[in-house]
Amino acid sequence: MKHIVVLSGAGISAESGLKTFRDSDGLWEGHDVMEVATPEGFAKNPELVLEFYNQRRRQLKAVEPNSAHFDLASLEQDYKVTIITQNVDDLHERAGSTRVIHLHGELNKAKSVNNEEILSWPNDINIGDICKDGYQIRPHIVWFGEAVPMIDLAVKECETADILIIIGTSMQVYPAAGLMHYVKDKTPIYYIDPNPAHMNAKHVKIIRENGTSGMKTVLETLSLK
Ligand code: OAD
Repeated sequence: MKHIVVLSGAGISAESGLKTFRDSDGLWEGHDVMEVATPEGFAKNPELVLEFYNQRRRQLKAVEPNSAHFDLASLEQDYKVTIITQNVDDLHERAGSTRVIHLHGELNKAKSVNNEEILSWPNDINIGDICKDGYQIRPHIVWFGEAVPMIDLAVKECETADILIIIGTSMQVYPAAGLMHYVKDKTPIYYIDPNPAHMNAKHVKIIRENGTSGMKTVLETLSLK
């Protein structure tokens, strides 16, 4: 079975109603990213940061996967599919994808500020919510400046890819954006984005469309091969 690796970003969830990061003047839902997505921001104002992610978690309950998520899940009928997502939403899983690597964490999980143990946490996190170790819990989000523990696994998956699909990402954030360089030389790469980043890698077919229509184009192309 051929192996399809997918690198997804905020753009795939845009048509589900979740805002991307860089399409709105550097503000993310009205906040400076450095205020809500860094350890320094959390140390300075933990209430604000917890409330910010509480809102994102509530918003996630109100949205649904779109056809791009479902089309990616349907590829599992014919391919081994590994989704490497920068997104902290669970829309790939809710669409039925079974192998999803979250590079930047997951909204529905939490961890102690003192260690890396991950807890399932689908509801609000408040000041005073503590872990077994007695420490405050925080969202399981990889903030700027923090290590990306899943990156080694993601690199290994890319190394065995027969096809790479990149969808809805500005390719601005490393190490995620560097993953495409780990696929073999001849591996075809499809990059779906209405406003794609410049790519100088070979074998990249740019599909300048929204995620939902771009995925239809990719499905058609794959069925012709
Ligand atoms: P960005 O906001 O940087 O980029 C979103 C991309 O989606 C852009 O290239 C848009 O052109 C594209 N886009 C917009 N609407 C789309 C649609 N309907 N269909 C397909 N694509 C569309 O988001 P990411 O690249 O995911 O990190 O950002 C990477 C990381 O930066 C995020 O994971 C987050 C952020 O800071 C953390 O939170 C740690």
